[in-house]
Amino acid sequence: KGKMELPPRPTLFDFHGVSMTKYFTDNWENIQSFKARPDDILIATYPKAGTTWVSYILDLLYFGETDCRSSVPLQERVPFLEISVPSRPKGKDLADQLPTAPRLIKTHLPVQFVPKSFWEQRSRVVYVARNAKDSAVSYFHFGRMNRVQPEPGDWSCFLQNFMQGKMVFGSWYEHVNTWWDQKQTYSNLHYMFYEDLIEDSGQEISRLCCFLGLSPTAEQRELVQTKVTFDNMKQNKITNFSTVPMMNQSISPFMRKGRVGDWKNHFTVSQNEQFEEDYQNKMKNSALVFRNEI
Ligand code: A3P
Repeated sequence: KGKMELPPRPTLFDFHGVSMTKYFTDNWENIQSFKARPDDILIATYPKAGTTWVSYILDLLYFGETDCRSSVPLQERVPFLEISVPSRPKGKDLADQLPTAPRLIKTHLPVQFVPKSFWEQRSRVVYVARNAKDSAVSYFHFGRMNRVQPEPGDWSCFLQNFMQGKMVFGSWYEHVNTWWDQKQTYSNLHYMFYEDLIEDSGQEISRLCCFLGLSPTAEQRELVQTKVTFDNMKQNKITNFSTVPMMNQSISPFMRKGRVGDWKNHFTVSQNEQFEEDYQNKMKNSALVFRNEI
């Protein structure tokens, strides 16, 4: 077989006021007219907040790990709605073709870009948020290893861009806040935090079950909790993205560290001071409180 040529790294452009790349806007009309169903579950996050982790938790809670599914990678079980990369299946089409009920669908779209039908059908939404500093670090390493992302440049340059919202899917600050605002008027939205999952995954899984109306047995729960630990997900080819050609895991593995506070190994003292000052300013009207360490 001939070697498949990988699509080039994209560049950012302004898309209705949000920095985006063509790999998430090329299929726009089809995405906007997506037909959601009342029992769909949308997993929404700013990139690197723990999307894969929560996707696998929900997948296991609903469907377990039956033999016929055990070789299907997570990115096919939980399609990425807006992705459209040449010579790969489009996320929207994978979502349309999902045989399961409920359908679990992943998105990084800012809330104003989410297809209307999710709100009209009153689909349930799980939003996961992660503190800004660890999100920035995780996004930086992700950019290095994943050709679907623009060239990240060096860390200090990347951090400036993060603060200015010059990232794919736009500003972290706007993303977490506008999704939080949405929760105030849309009751079928569960807003959760990566740091809480790290601190007590059992409790967060219970809260998820409560929101979704699920009551797993103690045995099922234990199985889920074991399967979704960082080490197990890192080893598991279903969840570690090892089958995705656009990712070069020898540069940085997808399952990289899985910790709260890794930012301390990246931010210099002055970067931290500047970041904090800018953060207080950008978040001054926000009710959200993030934990940068636990
Ligand atoms: P790091 O780069 O800090 O390690 P997403 O799935 O939204 O792209 O998020 C990826 C981040 O979540 C990565 O963070 C990854 O290691 C972390 N992650 C994935 N599964 C995890 C798990 N089971 N436990 C803790 N962190 C996990």
